[in-house]
Amino acid sequence: MPFYKEILLAACAIVCMSSLKAQSLDLIPAPANYSVQDGKIDLYKGVSLNSEIPPTAMKAYRFLRFTTHFGYFLRLGNKSVSLRFVEDKLLAEKAFKLISDVQGIEVSANSESGFFHASQTLSQLIEMKDNRKFPLFKIEDAPAFSWRGLHLDVSRHFFPVAEVKKILKAMCFYRLNVFHWHLTDDQGWRIEIKRYPELTRIGSSRSGTLLGHASLKPLIRDNTPYSGFYSQEEIRSVVSFADSLGITVVPEIEMPGHAQAAVSAYPWLGLTGRNPGVWTDWGVSSFILSPKDSVFTFLENVLTEVLELFPSKYIHIGGDEAIKDQWKASSFVQAKIKELGLKDEHELQSWFIRRIEKFLNSKGRQIIGWDEILEGGLAPNAAVMSWRGEAGGIQAARMNHPVVMSPGNPLYFDHYQSENHSEPLAIGGLNQLQKVYAYHPLPDSLKASEKDWILGAQGNLWTEYIAGSDQLEYMAFPRAIALAELTWTKKDKKDYPDFLRRLEAHRKVLKRMDLNFRDWKNE
Ligand code: ACM
Repeated sequence: MPFYKEILLAACAIVCMSSLKAQSLDLIPAPANYSVQDGKIDLYKGVSLNSEIPPTAMKAYRFLRFTTHFGYFLRLGNKSVSLRFVEDKLLAEKAFKLISDVQGIEVSANSESGFFHASQTLSQLIEMKDNRKFPLFKIEDAPAFSWRGLHLDVSRHFFPVAEVKKILKAMCFYRLNVFHWHLTDDQGWRIEIKRYPELTRIGSSRSGTLLGHASLKPLIRDNTPYSGFYSQEEIRSVVSFADSLGITVVPEIEMPGHAQAAVSAYPWLGLTGRNPGVWTDWGVSSFILSPKDSVFTFLENVLTEVLELFPSKYIHIGGDEAIKDQWKASSFVQAKIKELGLKDEHELQSWFIRRIEKFLNSKGRQIIGWDEILEGGLAPNAAVMSWRGEAGGIQAARMNHPVVMSPGNPLYFDHYQSENHSEPLAIGGLNQLQKVYAYHPLPDSLKASEKDWILGAQGNLWTEYIAGSDQLEYMAFPRAIALAELTWTKKDKKDYPDFLRRLEAHRKVLKRMDLNFRDWKNE
């Protein structure tokens, strides 16, 4: 071959490779398989629907058509570009195919969630391309895990509905699909329960908030009353908004511990006869619910209202960090332990949770609780959220119980993101972006059949040290985006340098979302 031809070929290779690179779709989470071909499809003027929409694709269609995302509607009416939804029975349940050619886009799936995932992918592509012109592409994708969760504690600090919805929109953009709403705790009861108005009239307000870190002595409080709760109307609007974004809201009603706000509202729920006031410190209060029948009636009534508001399969009943001192000191509780033939307070907690499980199962729901619910015996149908490392999750999976992995290290997003002194005060720990990204929810020590019990993973936003929306977004993003990839993308397709490259391409969209994300370049 003449020398100039070789040069020509080499030049072409460089141009072709760089144009391929430029044509990366920059999707987050990274898809299982995709290819990009020469050619262009132009969505600037919108699309036309030229076939029936299968019923399973209606939600996806509505999402594309009526959700503004972060600035753009998918317009209808452009005859030259079609959008077709095709049911493909050969695809796995949550999988989809998204194929574009010069005539339009074809979306294939086998279920509502498959079509929805495809529409989320398409909407991200649209949002990323300012000129709405795309290369021709073929994407085949499916989520690695069904629980891709983000948690928000609104008890320690309260976040208004608008902020919750902003977080939900960002979750949807990255295909996170479970919002775990931590609604009650020692420092504030935040959900209106019509039958028990004191829960919010009294339980949603505290007289002050701790300033500085809880480990600093002496403790200093601001003595400024702090309050907030969601009306049932607001909760309905959040749940329905989340549903339109393909997100399930899982409410958490804490029991039997983390109950000081509830006991302040109704001291008969507790054991001391005292009204402790809604707690003004961080940590774990020793106020615990009494295991008496009237408390179970109360909890069933509360949960009945909760079930009307939240259609989720799972209801989170807390179960963590229940300090047993008041149970140990109570002659009523000690007599109850004897009467039930139980060994100790751990078995009593297990009995307590089983009783609630029976009630929720009778209403067609499942309980999920923090890994302490394993202590004293796991309720027969319970799912376990593993937060003190993975051990609880591993134990539960071996017992054939569903598990969500949410180990504090590295999935607590209230921990520091770097060792820079410029970081805002946090609870402690160091969970940098790369460490979050590297997490894989399937422990090597589990057998394949046991791994099937791992539903997925979740990042947690505890808010003792997160007092406002700017800081909340700073702590959540971009770590929640890494979480989205580690729960959606199969392990062998994860690639941190490439994630960072794609994240850079997302910078402008994150700004358009008006998220106060932490700049990942500030290591
Ligand atoms: C927890 O962090 N107490 C679940």
